[in-house]
Amino acid sequence: MQLIDGKATATRIKEEIAAEVAEMVARGEKRPHLAAILVGHDGGSETYVHNKVLACEACGFKSTLIRMEDTISEEELLAEVDKLNKDEDVDGFIVQLPLPAHISEQKIIEAIDYRKDVDGFHPINVGRMAIGLPCYISATPKGIMELLVRYGVETSGKKCVILGRSNIVGKPMAQLMMQKNFGDATVTVCHSRSQTLKKECQEADIIIAAIGRPNFVTADMVKEGATVIDVGTTRVPDATRKSGFRLNGDVKFDEVAPKCNFITPVPGGVGPMTICMLMKNTLSAGKKEFYP
Ligand code: GUN
Repeated sequence: MQLIDGKATATRIKEEIAAEVAEMVARGEKRPHLAAILVGHDGGSETYVHNKVLACEACGFKSTLIRMEDTISEEELLAEVDKLNKDEDVDGFIVQLPLPAHISEQKIIEAIDYRKDVDGFHPINVGRMAIGLPCYISATPKGIMELLVRYGVETSGKKCVILGRSNIVGKPMAQLMMQKNFGDATVTVCHSRSQTLKKECQEADIIIAAIGRPNFVTADMVKEGATVIDVGTTRVPDATRKSGFRLNGDVKFDEVAPKCNFITPVPGGVGPMTICMLMKNTLSAGKKEFYP
């Protein structure tokens, strides 16, 4: 069994990005600039955005954090998005989700200029990804592909089962894993209505669990020698932690790991790769790589 170390991989990739940024700056080019809009004070979002700002520093990017109260109107947020769309110094930006209930997330996502949409959430980027055109790919599936490549996990011709059909993880993951000359896998997507979920998992060479149900994937669901990728990050109460909670994956790690060729831990697996891929997308934005 080999543990896939997302934390170490993410650190290495950020070093690679920082080296490239140093070369860009030495050539007299502009430092890539990521902006983030954070609405309200949700604890999880505060942590994510803080970590994104720290990652920008590690990569040598310029970063701008725009804070707005959760009482702002949809129009006010749209106006801020429009400002960033027009700001020539900003290469890419994100609006941290979730947003307050009175604001339509889809409307905000569609208002972002797709050429600056480093989250890869805009329908133009989603559509371009689906047909294999250059574009921003959302960070979690992109990070998982990067881990599979860097650890030499064969995907071509393999049976891959994805648990979950979210727009941010399950659906793009399925697209990338089936893509010609990329994942090249045979892909099955299972979700809360699937009747053969257990059987599909038992036949899978690769399981990607992204359903947000702690310890859902148990040893009896996993084939000997499989690769298991755990995207789950449910906060469960834990009095022994200073924060009062710990992150729990979708996989019952202790009993599943001994059966696997490769497995990701939680924390320290997919999580650190997500922010790292946002940095990679920001570097692409700085270089105008996808949309010259
Ligand atoms: N909330 C949770 N994950 C993400 C993400 O990847 N991007 C944004 N914008 N919000 C999030």
